[in-house]
Amino acid sequence: VPSHYNADPIHIAVIGGTGLQHLPGFSHVATVEPDTPWGKPSSPISVLHHPSPSSHKPVPIAFVSRHGLHHELAPHEVPARANIAALRYLGVRTIIAFSAVGSLQEHIKPRDFVVPDQIIDRTKGIRPFTFFEGGMVGHVGFADPFDPPLAKIVRQCGHSLEGEGVALHDKGTVVCMEGPQFSTRAESNLYRQWGGSVINMSALPEAKLAKEAEISYQMICMSTDYDCWHESAGDVTVEMVMGNMKANSENARRFVGAVLNELSKEEHGDQVLAKHLAGQTKFAGSIT
Ligand code: ADE
Repeated sequence: VPSHYNADPIHIAVIGGTGLQHLPGFSHVATVEPDTPWGKPSSPISVLHHPSPSSHKPVPIAFVSRHGLHHELAPHEVPARANIAALRYLGVRTIIAFSAVGSLQEHIKPRDFVVPDQIIDRTKGIRPFTFFEGGMVGHVGFADPFDPPLAKIVRQCGHSLEGEGVALHDKGTVVCMEGPQFSTRAESNLYRQWGGSVINMSALPEAKLAKEAEISYQMICMSTDYDCWHESAGDVTVEMVMGNMKANSENARRFVGAVLNELSKEEHGDQVLAKHLAGQTKFAGSIT
């Protein structure tokens, strides 16, 4: 993977979703355009410097825009394998992934944040979803699709902003659908019966690939609509998603900024390096 970033490895990355295409407030130090065996990532990777509060050395953060710099990639076109592989190559072991979501529950209001702990897969199997094929057979547990110790840090950061207008739900099940069309009303109601909290088109295969790569991964969701089950809110539209995302983007950035601030502290060094995940992926066999 060629790059002109030859400095220290980067351990922390942010995958920005709809409405979080940039992270202002961080100094931009390099742009990397890696190629991987799975193609190029969604966007050039920006290397940002986060001024670490606990050491003199700035902490580098990699930032990828999931849907491309100009939002030109549909959810099913996102090169998730290239994104995860490129980040892993740069040294990334912790990913904070951001996503706009529809709410499936009355109490999760538009502009509320959710730190989910579960996923229901409603993608259609058309997205490449594993690194392990073509002669290399690997398996990894996916019972907890997000990393619980990372989730704990993310939740604490979210709660620390509650006085400043950030509403946070500590748990939730993300239904990840194929899209790009939104759900039918019958599907939306079905997902509610299944216990879904929010719905998006982006959690998978990203979370699966991060797990295979032994990367600590947590998604932060921001609700932008009530999908189409709600009797009075009006059915979801792109304008609703974009409008709420834009209106609340300052909070989104502050939330992500607070998480990066915390993760940059030396005391989280082992967590950031995902030491607890090393060796979790097991290989059943391979062509030698
Ligand atoms: N992203 C934001 N709102 C959504 C919805 N209602 N369904 C799927 N993905 C979404």
